[in-house]
Parts: sequence; C-alpha cells; structure tokens
Amino acid sequence: MGDVDTAGGDDPTEARALADLLPAFRPESDLERAVASDPVLIEGLAWGKPRRGHPEGPVAVHVGHLLETIERWGETGRRRADLRFVALVHDALKYRVSPWRPKTGENHHAVRGRRFAERYTDDERLLATIELHDRPYNVWRRRRGDPGAVGRIIDRVPDLGLFVRFLELDGSTEGKNPEPIRWFKAELARRGLASRGRDQTQGG
Ligand SMILES: [Fe+2]
Ligand SMILES: [Fe+2]
Repeated sequence: MGDVDTAGGDDPTEARALADLLPAFRPESDLERAVASDPVLIEGLAWGKPRRGHPEGPVAVHVGHLLETIERWGETGRRRADLRFVALVHDALKYRVSPWRPKTGENHHAVRGRRFAERYTDDERLLATIELHDRPYNVWRRRRGDPGAVGRIIDRVPDLGLFVRFLELDGSTEGKNPEPIRWFKAELARRGLASRGRDQTQGG
C-alpha cells in the first residue's frame, strides 16, 4: 500500500504486530506500553489454533474479547488497570509450555505467565491472579469439592475481589462452562468470604 511509512514516531515492528493482533488496544499506562511491546508477549498473543474451550484460535482474539468486556462492564480506576494487565498476560505464555513435560508447576502456562509478569511488577495481587487463574477450574474438574484445595487457593490470593472478577471475565468468553465459577463463588460464600469476592460493579 503506497510508500507512506512515516507512521507515528516510536512505532517499531513489534508495535505494528501488536496492532494487527489487538487492533483496538491502546495502552493506558507506561506499564501497559512496556508489556505490550515485549516480543515475548507479542509472540504469545499470536500463538494458538482453535481448540476446545478456545474456539477463537490465537490467544490475542481471546484477550481482545476480555478487553472489550472490561470496557462493556464499565470498569474504571485501579480495577480496570488490574484487569487489563492480567488479561494481557494471563494466557500469553502458553506457547512456552513444554509439551513433553507435565503441564504443572513451572511448566503451567499460568505460572510461566506469572514469571513473565514479575519482570514488570511486584504487585502480588496481580501476580497471584495470573498464576492461579485456572486453578479453581482445575480443582472443580479434577477434585470437585476438595476443601483443602480451595483453601490453598484462597490463602494465596491477596485480593479476592480482583481474583473473582478476573475469573468472571476469563469465563465470559464463548466456549467456557460457567459452572466452575458459580461453584467457586459458592465456596467463598460458604466460608463467609462472598463479599470480598463480589465486586461493587456487577455481580455474576
Ligand atoms: Fe489460562
Ligand atoms: Fe484466558
């Protein structure tokens, strides 16, 4: 298309690639700008084929849906910034999971995502949300009702409001079963923690 390539000042190849992957994304902070120009993140967002639970394909499509939903929910302030950062990073390290090793511990995409995020923040509310975002689903699926496993999640999460809100966000996309989140919220309610897991904006 023509030879007009004088586009806006600091717009390296990475930023171009991100614009292709997440066309609606506009950084809202220095943190977002930094993480969104990291080639590791960009490669991770580009990765993925349609599969069970993720009919949309590349991780970026899923992340784009989450960013749109944050917008639609009218999230503002710190909650908005937190959700956006976690949305960008939480699944982006799937491509770094070794297929020949168990997908647990340091080889789980969520833990890899946390390790990546540690380069950008030491806010444990964000890091724990990234690291544990799939844990309630796994406990629900494999160890339904295991109170010890639920307790171990809760003990590690400094901000249950953010955590539950992100579970709702991540679970809001097509192809996701709403049951694990309902179950996890019921577990919080049973422990008298429902108000900490419930956000002031919108429920369910
Ligand atoms: Fe995930
Ligand atoms: Fe996700």
